[in-house]
Amino acid sequence: MLIAIDGPAAAGKGTLARRLAAHYGLAFLDTGSLYRAVGCRVLEEGGDPADAAFAARIARALDMDEIDETHLRTAEAGAAASKVAVIPAVRQALLDFQRSFAARDGGAVLDGRDIGTVVAPHADVKLFVTASPEERARRRYEELKLAGAEVDQGRILDEIIARDARDSGRADAPLRAADDAHLLDTTKLDIEAAFRMAVSIIDRAMEGSVS
Ligand code: DC
Repeated sequence: MLIAIDGPAAAGKGTLARRLAAHYGLAFLDTGSLYRAVGCRVLEEGGDPADAAFAARIARALDMDEIDETHLRTAEAGAAASKVAVIPAVRQALLDFQRSFAARDGGAVLDGRDIGTVVAPHADVKLFVTASPEERARRRYEELKLAGAEVDQGRILDEIIARDARDSGRADAPLRAADDAHLLDTTKLDIEAAFRMAVSIIDRAMEGSVS
């Protein structure tokens, strides 16, 4: 079974995708971490994430097995990821790895922005997970505060709005729900309720595909 999960920043899709992968016994790939790894490496090397040639060179040289998640969850990494993700040559460099992951024998869950539309348009089930920008900013604020970071909720909201605009407005593989995606708005749901709803959508979709 192949499950594609897309949605805007901080909608809770990562946590949901991880839990769904464990529930169905599937491999999991957080594709945002690939873009974050490229964005971070560009910054580490003193480059500009908007420099297409520089970012593409980093993306082509990226060793997917060496990605260390721990440094990738910062707001700076997210912003840099969103900037390199606009560059078609960066997206192209990361595509084969994502597609091979999606083709694993045991099945997989991938989360990102373009999984249902570009990486795995043939996925068995597609979820588009969203929540209001205010609620997403609140969640990200709580998450960062818990991690001990000094953060301002208003600034996080501004960053989320800017990131949504960049992710949805780019020409290549913009953030959008596939026509056959199931919408899951988690604004008023906690993770447990979102998980139960996702399982029910997936189980129903899989029943429909075998009968
Ligand atoms: O899901 P995330 O916040 O870790 O993603 C970081 C950025 O990476 C996001 O703002 C846009 C980009 N991204 C993408 O363009 N396509 C994907 N499949 C995943 C992430």
